[in-house]
Amino acid sequence: MAEPDLQDIHDLLVETAMQAGEMITSAHPSTSTTDTKKNSSDLVTETDQAVENMVSSALKSRYPSYSFLGEETYHPGLHLTSAPTFVCDPIDGTTNFVHGYPYISISLAFVHNLRPLVGVVFNPFTAQIYHAIKGRGAYLTSTSLGKDDPAKMRQLPLRNPPEPLHGLDEALVAVEWGNERSGNNWDVKVGTFAALAGAKEGGGAMVHSLRSLGSAALNLCGVAAGGLDAYWEGGCWAWDVAAGWVILEEAGGMMVGGNKGEWEPTIEGRRYLAVRGTEGGEQEQKNFIEEFWECVKGTLEYEL
Ligand code: IPD
Repeated sequence: MAEPDLQDIHDLLVETAMQAGEMITSAHPSTSTTDTKKNSSDLVTETDQAVENMVSSALKSRYPSYSFLGEETYHPGLHLTSAPTFVCDPIDGTTNFVHGYPYISISLAFVHNLRPLVGVVFNPFTAQIYHAIKGRGAYLTSTSLGKDDPAKMRQLPLRNPPEPLHGLDEALVAVEWGNERSGNNWDVKVGTFAALAGAKEGGGAMVHSLRSLGSAALNLCGVAAGGLDAYWEGGCWAWDVAAGWVILEEAGGMMVGGNKGEWEPTIEGRRYLAVRGTEGGEQEQKNFIEEFWECVKGTLEYEL
């Protein structure tokens, strides 16, 4: 098989994401008519399904031999393989979408040999698209701006050089509640949130604050851009993180697992810690990660 043409794939994913954006912004979801999946906090709309359908047809018609993994067509037992694969979350932030909170994205990735190589994350409500190709840098393009506006396409991180990554007590950290609201993983999350945010006198790390914005892909892009210092989550899936992962790494960020000692995370691991780039480089990131893992109260455990 010929080597994948990453630039062509990138351009196709951008074009497809923009088409999806039109479908998303012209939809009229509502909380009362929305279906649920696993439980009442796990939502799906007709738009999620229609967008995934459009994306999978567009990508298959150009690259018929490549595999496809999408949130809405996933079933237990389906795994990423080393084959060239498109990974799609048609609406990352479905809860925000049905509430009319305009913080959502379409997240499209190309993964080969289980490594994310191209990532495109588009929020059609803010007209911002984050995009990256492995080895070629990560960018934020504002599609609402004219082509000659210098703010139209900016390389990530936005603050360059980035500030040093001091300890957790100077950090702004994204976390997510997810849709599992009882059991071991819930206890680990709630304990960790308290350990991160709590006052030093009580044994907490006292981060500047925690944010829960509702889209894993946009959280990863927020860390890539540098506005967030870190993002920790358990429970999300390959389609939530594959695109953001390459954008993060191309912006100098580092991805590890959500549990202590998980230095070699996998796309399907379902627990992640993303840390932004810093001039201090890898050692500074590793020190931050080790400090973070000390706050993780227990072990996150997820099945595929
Ligand atoms: C969800 C969002 C949310 C995260 C969940 C994801 P969806 O994706 O990314 O931020 O906490 O784990 O499942 O369901 O809106 O595509």
